[in-house]
Amino acid sequence: MRLSERMSRLGTETAFEVLARARALEAQGRNVVHLEIGEPDFDTPSNITEAAIAALKSGATHYGPSPGLPDLRQAIAEDSSKRRGVHSTPEMVVVTPGGKPIMFFTILSLIDPGDEVLYPNPGFPIYESMIRYIGGVPVPIRLVEKKAYELDVDQLVSKIGPKTRLIVINTPHNPTGGVITESGIRAIADAALKNGVPVLSDEIYCRILYDGEHKSIAGMPGMEPLAIVLDGFSKTYAMTGWRLGYGIMPAPLAQVVAKLQTNATSCTATFTQMAGAAALRGDQSGPERMVAEFKRRRDAIVDGLRTIPGFKCVRPKGAFYVFPNITETGFSAKPLAERILDEAGVACLSGTAFGEWGEGHLRFSYANSLENIQEAIRRIKELLAH
Ligand SMILES: Cc1ncc(COP(=O)(O)O)c(C=O)c1O
Repeated sequence: MRLSERMSRLGTETAFEVLARARALEAQGRNVVHLEIGEPDFDTPSNITEAAIAALKSGATHYGPSPGLPDLRQAIAEDSSKRRGVHSTPEMVVVTPGGKPIMFFTILSLIDPGDEVLYPNPGFPIYESMIRYIGGVPVPIRLVEKKAYELDVDQLVSKIGPKTRLIVINTPHNPTGGVITESGIRAIADAALKNGVPVLSDEIYCRILYDGEHKSIAGMPGMEPLAIVLDGFSKTYAMTGWRLGYGIMPAPLAQVVAKLQTNATSCTATFTQMAGAAALRGDQSGPERMVAEFKRRRDAIVDGLRTIPGFKCVRPKGAFYVFPNITETGFSAKPLAERILDEAGVACLSGTAFGEWGEGHLRFSYANSLENIQEAIRRIKELLAH
């Protein structure tokens, strides 16, 4: 079958490929420590699961409105207004199956062939994939270790030109765990406002933060007409498999995005959405406990990686990833990640899975037990000692 030309431009998310490879090794009887996939290892808090069961039993098994159930849109608008310090209304919210479709739908809605999109590199691979797929021009903003992977605003400003149609930012950041400070967010907002460029702010990890408070670009004065926030339930409430996320954006854009959803999936599963409303309105001690545990694991993995010859590791401020620099091991990132999986039985990702500027790094997700993290460090150390 002949594929469309645009398919040659579509990228992917390597984490799923490495997971499949690790599972194949396990099927052969090998033991693998999984530090590749970005999902909390905790169970979804029981109040949320109970709400989904009750919703199913009450007959919430039918189609719902494309932009999402009114009650959930209301709950999201209230929650976001509280957290981001800017008033959001339900008309600004579109609920999607996971946060990921918000990237696709936003880029589809705003980008024509030849338009430039600024995005972090290393960064979540789907940004670049979607930009290329749609015929846009990806303009990477390089994140560097020296700045603890915080987005360099001067570099960003220097790359804004007449063809710039969108800026993508992500804080806390995948794959580095870097966080953009409040002054950085303010400066990005100033640049966006000066040039009239919308900002897609991926805040999926905004509740997984170890120091200070999350600052959203949507909360910066004047940004309301230009801010598109991506957030969701996957990481905060350990709900990756439920597929529940959302975007918050100017109401006219929300209508366009909802129309894309009508074309793509019709709507997000209704009982899942009812569970989402229960998650936002219910007890928040589950997510708080998870963050406290992630902090312990972050410290354990950073301290452990720093004892491996040739590894250097920044202590990240958010998300559940570390991005050690491995250049002094003498290996390139991809061959080293492959050796670590094949020979040490530890699944991790090459930094290059997050773009060309990820070379010289590996990404470990520490959404795994302390015991497994320590075992992974031991295995990598032993491998590199030979
Ligand atoms: C930066 C970033 N944005 C968005 C997503 C998508 O999350 P969801 O599972 O809600 O689609 C992920 C998932 O790994 C992510 O790392």
